[in-house]
Amino acid sequence: MTLPHTSQLPDTPCYLNGEFTALKDAKISVLDRGFIFGDGVYEVVPVYGGRLFRFAQHMARLSRSLAELRIANPLSHAQWHEIALKLIADYAQSTGTTPEMSDQLIYIQITRGVALRDHPMLPGLTPTVFVMTNAMKLPSAQQRSEGVACVTADDFRWEKAHIKSTSLLGAVFSRQISVDAGALETIMFRGEHLSEASSSNVWVVKNGKVMGPPKDHLVLEGIRYGLIEEMCRAAEIDFELRRLSREEVFDADELLLSSATKEVLPVTLLDGRAVGKGTPGPIYAQLHAAYQQAKRDLST
Ligand code: PDD
Repeated sequence: MTLPHTSQLPDTPCYLNGEFTALKDAKISVLDRGFIFGDGVYEVVPVYGGRLFRFAQHMARLSRSLAELRIANPLSHAQWHEIALKLIADYAQSTGTTPEMSDQLIYIQITRGVALRDHPMLPGLTPTVFVMTNAMKLPSAQQRSEGVACVTADDFRWEKAHIKSTSLLGAVFSRQISVDAGALETIMFRGEHLSEASSSNVWVVKNGKVMGPPKDHLVLEGIRYGLIEEMCRAAEIDFELRRLSREEVFDADELLLSSATKEVLPVTLLDGRAVGKGTPGPIYAQLHAAYQQAKRDLST
């Protein structure tokens, strides 16, 4: 039986263990530790008009995640860059466009490799390296103008959230809570403190100040952490990282999500209650404009 999702596998190019091939033809071993244990890490890099956005920062985070798993980075920065550029060009060609015309996402995954099932971090394996590119689906004009609804939940995930791990059952469960509630994201709390959303970071705006949780093991340090800090400094918006209580989140003037695909996005409804005035606020407008400028600056 062919399942609908597999029959829709695109004919777009990907990279697997040294070879460029069509996504639908790429195959790995059933004994790959990524398949058996979720023993791997990944990155999602935005590409605007054929240009990689914040690639160096994504590569640095990839190295940090790999180091936590005690996997040596299998490729050099230059090799990663070369693979990404080739896929961007091949993708444009396969969709009948040019790289300048398309916004894409480069997805990178490395697993520990193939071995008989045994839990320890087995040394000496050859890591599995997979890279693919997809069209980027940015938030809609309506989501930008009206903001999005989110719900809250306890953060029941593990305590190594700083690793961009392919063990994503926690993300699947937490995202589904918002799907079931008809909301875009699930904003989570460890005890009484904000951590992050299922696949985004969360920002509280109060009295003109942008605040996020500290960069520790309870959150993934999104590449937008650094970018939002830079954009705030440039616009002379106060910026602070500290523990934020549930009360502060519900009492925010504005609430923002950030991720590779959401960029910066306003949350206007939380658990059915209006956030601030219930409409996207001025800090969102400023950060969104700065983000779009950062994208335009890529091509200059
Ligand atoms: N998710 N927190 C979590 C748990 C995430 O999964 C992500 C990104 C972020 C934001 O990180 P960044 O700004 O680097 O995208 C925060 C990606 C997009 C994903 O899993 O598809």
